[in-house]
Amino acid sequence: MTRKLVVFYSRTGKTKTISERISELLNCDLEEIVDLKKRTGIIGFLKAGKDAFLKKKTSIREPVKTPSEYDLLLIGSPVWAGSLPPAIRTYITYFKNQLPKLALIGTCSGKGNVSKIAVEIEKISDKKLSAVIEVTSKEVSKNKYENKIQDFINELKNIQ
Ligand SMILES: Cc1cc2nc3c(=O)[nH]c(=O)nc-3n(C[C@H](O)[C@H](O)[C@H](O)COP(=O)(O)O)c2cc1C
Repeated sequence: MTRKLVVFYSRTGKTKTISERISELLNCDLEEIVDLKKRTGIIGFLKAGKDAFLKKKTSIREPVKTPSEYDLLLIGSPVWAGSLPPAIRTYITYFKNQLPKLALIGTCSGKGNVSKIAVEIEKISDKKLSAVIEVTSKEVSKNKYENKIQDFINELKNIQ
């Protein structure tokens, strides 16, 4: 399992922090998924929750890297309204028929909620996730995630 790509969507930087750290430790490529819809401010926040809940897609910036050129795609995503941010839904749908093995880097505010987006990613991609890491926003704020990340990296070594 040599070629790995980390892609992530992050509205407030938590998923970005974890995704960047993982790509640094894996020494692999990294690409940010950019939602072209404004998601800042209170209106942006409310629309984000609504769009995620309604399982909407959005317009994203054209990705530069092609997932099919990698052996493993690690998707960094926050949980929004118990669901996927539209940018992640759009990205996975866009590359649906050319996805390699998948792993999930999930962040959320409440413990256990990443499992909700894990199920959705498996449904949309029609693939099983090879590994999942959940980091809460509190853990990111307090810098308490290195052990979890190390366990996750070790788990990735077992993927054939
Ligand atoms: C619109 C919206 C909805 C959210 N819904 C949930 C939720 O249902 N469950 C949860 O645990 N966290 C929820 N969160 C919290 C985020 O998942 C969490 O803060 C995450 O770490 C943010 O990642 P980011 O900084 O990369 O954007 C929500 C955040 C936003 C903006």
